[in-house]
Amino acid sequence: MQVNRNRIMDQLDRLASFSDVPAPAVTRVVFSPVDLAARAYIKGLCDGFTVREDAVGNTFIRWVGAEPELAAVGTGSHIDAIPHSGRYDGTVGVLGGLEAMQALRESGFHPRRSIELLMFTSEEPTRFGIGCLGSRLLCGSLSASAGDRLKDTTGATLNEVRSAAGFTGSLEQVRLQPGYYHAFAELHIEQGPLLEQRGVPLGVVTAIAAPASLRITIEGEGGHAGAVLMPGRRDAFLGAAEIALALEQAAKSSGSIDTVATTGICNIFPGAVNSIPSRVEMTVDARDIDLTRRDVMLAALSTACDKVKAARGLQIQIEVVNADAPAHCDPLVVDVLAESCGTWKFDRMVSRAYHDSLFLSRIAPTALLFIPCRGGVSHRPDENASPEDIVRGIDVLARALAKLAEVA
Ligand code: GLV
Ligand code: MN
Ligand code: MN
Repeated sequence: MQVNRNRIMDQLDRLASFSDVPAPAVTRVVFSPVDLAARAYIKGLCDGFTVREDAVGNTFIRWVGAEPELAAVGTGSHIDAIPHSGRYDGTVGVLGGLEAMQALRESGFHPRRSIELLMFTSEEPTRFGIGCLGSRLLCGSLSASAGDRLKDTTGATLNEVRSAAGFTGSLEQVRLQPGYYHAFAELHIEQGPLLEQRGVPLGVVTAIAAPASLRITIEGEGGHAGAVLMPGRRDAFLGAAEIALALEQAAKSSGSIDTVATTGICNIFPGAVNSIPSRVEMTVDARDIDLTRRDVMLAALSTACDKVKAARGLQIQIEVVNADAPAHCDPLVVDVLAESCGTWKFDRMVSRAYHDSLFLSRIAPTALLFIPCRGGVSHRPDENASPEDIVRGIDVLARALAKLAEVA
């Protein structure tokens, strides 16, 4: 079996051109015109495979096996890209999964179980505020009724947006039957520096961190930036700043490098240089591989909000957008990936980023394969993975899919 390096690198180049910002940055928000064009491009590459789309746009590209009644072996990832990000996050798992299927087919291999590439809708939270939208619905972690209540950043409902994009039908139909997948393996860039630093070309992921995201609304009192004296001000942004610093402190003092927290959104109202902020809407992201430690950090955040509220006379509301449990990867799929590394060195490692595999693991034996990315950089335009690493990752993925597809 031979992975076609030119084909995969050309396809990654072409996919990166579907973007709302100039290269090297990529912005591809779910159901935007560039996302729909990118989906059409990928479906156009799938000759000889069957293509099915569900009501939320999850796309299933199936190589029908000799025993189609057996549960399929799945692989896949996402193609949506956060604003001003790079070209490899998710895409390596989608086009790499397709290349693995193509390389296996060209080698004359015929799978016993079907092998299916799954392109998930909206792994990124950019548009609807919640990550892994497609995979949450697939595994029932997000109910159809909760999905129906989601709105995008302009206030349009998920139902309006997906219908306009051509994806209709009830979200109830998205959920996969238990046993749909015999096994699932996702290929992804590491998005961290460890493989590169250690000079190890592959990572087999054994656990995926538990992400939580909270929207915090802080109400104070606005006014003239010059005329209102400092004593007695109720500046909503200064409360937000204290909360962000308290969250940083909670993450840093957990005792583990696996604890991380970020305040990534902070919208100030009215947003004028000479006006005291009267309201702030901030969204924070807190993660850990250990659920108890993650929840201790969330408790510290809540205590900080209470203190800031009392000390500054502010109103503070906290809404939990999601607070997911970590996932342990399936030991058998981990072992198949490890064996498929052959003579290449690999590390067993945890994933601090979340992935659709976090949710797939709730309904199927699942694991992830990592390849290095330059400097560990991700979610930035200079995200980079070398052709050698990409080809090696696809080669290992293909071997693993072939093994899993032969198991009775
Ligand atoms: C996925 O993009 C994540 O934020 O981990
Ligand atoms: Mn991402
Ligand atoms: Mn990703």
